Amino acid sequence: MIAEYDARLWYDQIPLRRSVRAYDSRKVPDDTLDRLRPFLSGFSGLCRGARGVLLDDAGDVFTGIIASLGRITGVSTVAVFIGDTSVPEHMESVGYLGEGVILQATSLGLGTCWVAGTFNRNCTASRVKLGKNEKVVAVTPLGFPVEKEDAGHRLVRSLANSKKRKPLEAIFGGLPPEKWPPGCREALEAARLAPSALNRQPWFFEVTHGEITLSVQGAGSGYGSLKRLDCGIAMLHFEVAAKALGLEGHWELLKPPHVARFILHESGSGISQARG
Ligand SMILES: Cc1cc2nc3c(=O)[nH]c(=O)nc-3n(C[C@H](O)[C@H](O)[C@H](O)COP(=O)(O)O)c2cc1C
Repeated sequence: MIAEYDARLWYDQIPLRRSVRAYDSRKVPDDTLDRLRPFLSGFSGLCRGARGVLLDDAGDVFTGIIASLGRITGVSTVAVFIGDTSVPEHMESVGYLGEGVILQATSLGLGTCWVAGTFNRNCTASRVKLGKNEKVVAVTPLGFPVEKEDAGHRLVRSLANSKKRKPLEAIFGGLPPEKWPPGCREALEAARLAPSALNRQPWFFEVTHGEITLSVQGAGSGYGSLKRLDCGIAMLHFEVAAKALGLEGHWELLKPPHVARFILHESGSGISQARG
């Protein structure tokens, strides 16, 4: 379970976080990184099958033809997110753990950007010690954003359509909002703001009495898919909001095409008010 202090801190970061691709080359101080490190090995049972590693020199992580498409510049520190493929839900875990790390970094004044495509994967893998079933899933730069992005970075941002999100009505089904327990709307709103690869927002929430079921929208919902990583990020957002707002419950993982179900605890969840 996420600690209540972290949930409150991270909930406040959700509207502040955005993908940053242009950094000012300053090194991240060690004492700042020390406040990030504890989260890299996991902060909840849902992190099983995922871990993060810091590289204090980005080296060739953001060089090469593919990497140039994402134009990550001026960064020195990188967090590498690793999944254990022997755990079927490793992509959900990487999304969940990684987003905790990213919101913690945001709270420390650092810029971040999930990168699962436009980086040099082979070079990154050669710089971390991988276990037998482990693979590098994604990375994020960590650093201080430049004050003003150049035209190239602005172009990447607009191509990524970064600011747009689907309306809430497009991502939930089941009970109408007036029957939801207190805090449920805000938790879904927090999930709605989650970042996703190509900003495709592949999540759908079915709200019923006592639980909220998360599924992948569209094709490609199988274990190991990038859409399940996106859903892991949305799970983290939903849970921190729920915890910060007193909507008590916990996630239980489900098989594809579902991802997980958030089971509301009776005490303090307002379920009894919502029923009937
Ligand atoms: C799993 C994942 C993978 C991503 N991969 C890349 C990438 O390879 N290159 C890139 O420039 N941005 C990448 N992004 C960033 C998304 O484009 C960005 O999160 C999305 O457009 C929403 O914008 P925002 O993060 O500013 O809210 C990725 C995001 C996620 C969640």
